[in-house]
Amino acid sequence: MIRKFIRLIVLFIILSSSLLRADEGMWIPVLMEKFNIEIMKEKGFKLSAEDIYSINKASMKDAVMIFGGGCTAELISDRGLLITNHHCGYRSIQSHSTVDNDYLTNGFWAMSQEEELTNPGLTVTFLKWMKDVTGEVLKGIEDGMSEEEMSDIKQENIDRINEEAIEGTHFTAQVKPFYYGNQYFLFVNETYKDVRLVGAPPSAIGKFGGDTDNWMWPRHTGDFSLFRIYAGKENEPVGYSPDNVPFKPEKFFPISLKGTEPGDFTMVFGYPGSTYEYVPSFHLQMLTRDIYPELIDVRTKKLEIMQNAMEKSRIVRIQYSAKAAGVSNSWKRWKGEIRGLDKLDAIAKKQAYEERFREWTHEDSERNQLYGNLLSRYDKVYNEIAPVRLARSYFREVFFYNGVENISLASGFSKLVSLVGNNASPEEIDEVLESLRKRVSGFFKNYDPATGDALSVAMLLLFEENVPWKYHPEEFKRIMEKFDGNYQAWIEKVRKKSLFVNEKTLLEFLNSFKSSGVKKIEKDPIFRLAQSAGETYNGILSDYGELNQELVSLHRVYMKAQMEFEPGKLFYPDANFSLRVSYGEAKGYEPRDAVFYKHYTTLEGVMEKDDPAIYDYNVPEKLRELYRKKDYGRYAPDGKMPVCFLATNHTTGGNSGSPVINAEGHLIGINFDRAWEGVMSDLMFNPEQCRNISLDIRYALFIIDKFAGAGYLLDEMTLVE
Ligand code: ARG
Ligand code: ASP
Repeated sequence: MIRKFIRLIVLFIILSSSLLRADEGMWIPVLMEKFNIEIMKEKGFKLSAEDIYSINKASMKDAVMIFGGGCTAELISDRGLLITNHHCGYRSIQSHSTVDNDYLTNGFWAMSQEEELTNPGLTVTFLKWMKDVTGEVLKGIEDGMSEEEMSDIKQENIDRINEEAIEGTHFTAQVKPFYYGNQYFLFVNETYKDVRLVGAPPSAIGKFGGDTDNWMWPRHTGDFSLFRIYAGKENEPVGYSPDNVPFKPEKFFPISLKGTEPGDFTMVFGYPGSTYEYVPSFHLQMLTRDIYPELIDVRTKKLEIMQNAMEKSRIVRIQYSAKAAGVSNSWKRWKGEIRGLDKLDAIAKKQAYEERFREWTHEDSERNQLYGNLLSRYDKVYNEIAPVRLARSYFREVFFYNGVENISLASGFSKLVSLVGNNASPEEIDEVLESLRKRVSGFFKNYDPATGDALSVAMLLLFEENVPWKYHPEEFKRIMEKFDGNYQAWIEKVRKKSLFVNEKTLLEFLNSFKSSGVKKIEKDPIFRLAQSAGETYNGILSDYGELNQELVSLHRVYMKAQMEFEPGKLFYPDANFSLRVSYGEAKGYEPRDAVFYKHYTTLEGVMEKDDPAIYDYNVPEKLRELYRKKDYGRYAPDGKMPVCFLATNHTTGGNSGSPVINAEGHLIGINFDRAWEGVMSDLMFNPEQCRNISLDIRYALFIIDKFAGAGYLLDEMTLVE
C-alpha cells in the first residue's frame, strides 16, 4: 500500500515537472490567474496575472495590438510609437517605394514627425476587454436539435451579445468560438486608423537572408519597422488628418538592455492565427499526402519564374518581391511541416491515441452512443473533403493568388457589371469606378507583362494537368480545346484584344465609362475566363463549406470527448487570432545528430554571411563599417552585437511582431519566425525541436541609433539597463 502510494507520488512529481518543462500552449489572458500564473512564476515570472490583463488598471494588453490584417505590434513610447516586424510593415514600405525612392532597398527614416508617411487602410486594433459568454451563446440550445437549428440560435444570441456590448460606443465586438464551439468569448475592440510609417531598415537588414534564411536558424535578420499611431484631439480613433496628434496610450513597454541567458523566462503576447492540435490523424494524412505536395509543386514553379525575372531587373524586383516572399513563405513551411511530422511519427502517434480513445468509448454504453462512431465519420468526411480542398487550393493558386494575374484583376470588375445590370444609381457606379481606378493603378505598378505571361502559361498548364475535368471551368475547356493546350498562343491573342493587359487603355475605359461599356467587359476574353472560373470556384466553395461544416461539428464533439477522455490534462484552445500568452524560456536546440544550436546570434554571423554578389546577403557598407569599428554604443555586452535569439514559446503565424517579454515585464525582443525543424507546431508540438525566433531588441536600437542616425527616437523610449 505504502509502496504504491510512494510510486504514485513519484509518478506525480515526474509528471508535474515535465508539465512544467514543456512550454506548449497559447493561453487565454483572462484565465492566467486560474491556470497559468503559478507555473509562470515557477519559471521565473515576477509579475502578476493582473499585470498582463486587467480591466481595472493599465496592463500589458493595453500595449499590444493587431497590426494590419494579420500581425501583432506593441507600443514602446507614450507618444504612440509602435514596433512590429519589417515583414509586417512590408506592404506599407513597398507602397511608398519607387525606383528613385526605393525605401525597400535603402530603408526609410523619418527625421521628424513631419516626415512620417501615411498609410491609407492600415489600422491597429486594441482589445478593450473580453469575457466568457458561453452560457449566453448556448442559451436555448437543447439536446436533439439539428446542427442548423443550433447554429441559428447561436447566431441570434451572438448578434445580441455583440450589439449590447458596444451600445453607445465606437468599439467593435466579436464573439469567437474556442475549443471548436465548446466555449465562447466576447472581444470588444477599438481600432485606430491613422498609422504612419516612422522607420524601416533597408531590406539588406530587415529581410537579411531573404527567403533563403526564412524559417531557419541560425538567423541574422533585423526584422523590425516602426510606426506611429495618430488620434484626434481627444485621443479618439479618427481617419487621417494633418491635425491629428500622436496617440497617448495607457501603457507601453519599457525596453530592457539585459538580453537573455539560456533558461531565462520569456513570454510572447500576441495574436496567433490558427493551429490544429486536436484534429484526428486523417487531417494530418490529408495535409501531408494529398494537399501539401501538390501545392509545393505549384509554388516551386511560381518561384522559379519570379526569381528568374527578379534577378534580371531592378524594377521587377520591386514589383515582385512581396509576391515572391508571400509565395515562398508557405511553400517552405509546408515542406518543413511534412518533415517535422514525419520525424515525430505524428500520424502513427495520433492513430495510437485514437485506438486508446476508441477502446475508452467502448467501455461504456452511453459513451459509445455519444462518441462511438466519431472516428469512422471523420474517416468518411476527410475522404470526401480532401479532393474538394485540393481543387479549392488549385483555383486560388492559379486564378486568384499570384497565378494568372490579369484574371484576379478582371474578377474585380464583376461588381461594376452587376451594378449596371441592376440599374444602380450613378453615385454607386462612380464609387465603384473610383475604387477600380485605384485597383488598376495598384495592379500595374506591381505587374510585369513578361513575368505575368510566363506565370499564366505555367499555371494554366499545371491546372490542365492536375485538376480533374469536372472542376474545369467551361471557358477554360473552350480555350484548352481551341488552342490545343498552347496557352502561350492564347495569351498572345488576348494581349491584342483584352482590356485587362494594359493600364492606359483600362484607365481610359474607366474614365470615359458609359453603361454600354459593360458589353465590352462581358465580351473580354480575360473577363470571361475570370467569370467562368469564379462560377466553378463558387460551386467548389459551397461543397467545401458543407463538408467543412460537418467537420466543425465533429471537431466540437471530438474536442469535448477528448477532454473527458483525459480529465487530468489542461487543454489550451487552438489558436483563433485572439490575444494569447505563451510562456517559455530562452533555449537552443539540436536540429540533427551531433549539431547543437546556441540560443543567440551576433553581428559576427551577419559578416560571415556577407556576400556582395548575392542580393539577400549583401551587407550595407555602413553596417560593415560599424562592425569594423565595433561602434555598438551601449547595446552590445562584451563587445558582441546580439542579433536574434531562440526560445521555447509556442507561436504561429500572426504572432509576428509580438512582444517578447522578460520576467520583469520588459521588452527584450520582437517575435518574427519559427525554426524550420519545429514548424509542425501548428499540428503537433515537439518541445525538443520547436523554437520561436525573435529579434533581440538591442539590435533594433543599435540600427535605429548608430546605423540610421535616428537616435532622437530613443529619447521617447524607456530603456532599462
Ligand atoms: N516566416 C515568417 C512568417 O511566417 C516570416 C515571413 C516573411 N519573410 C520572408 N522572407 N518571406 O511570417
Ligand atoms: N512569421 C510568422 C508571422 O508572420 C510567425 C510564425 O509563423 O512563427 O506571423
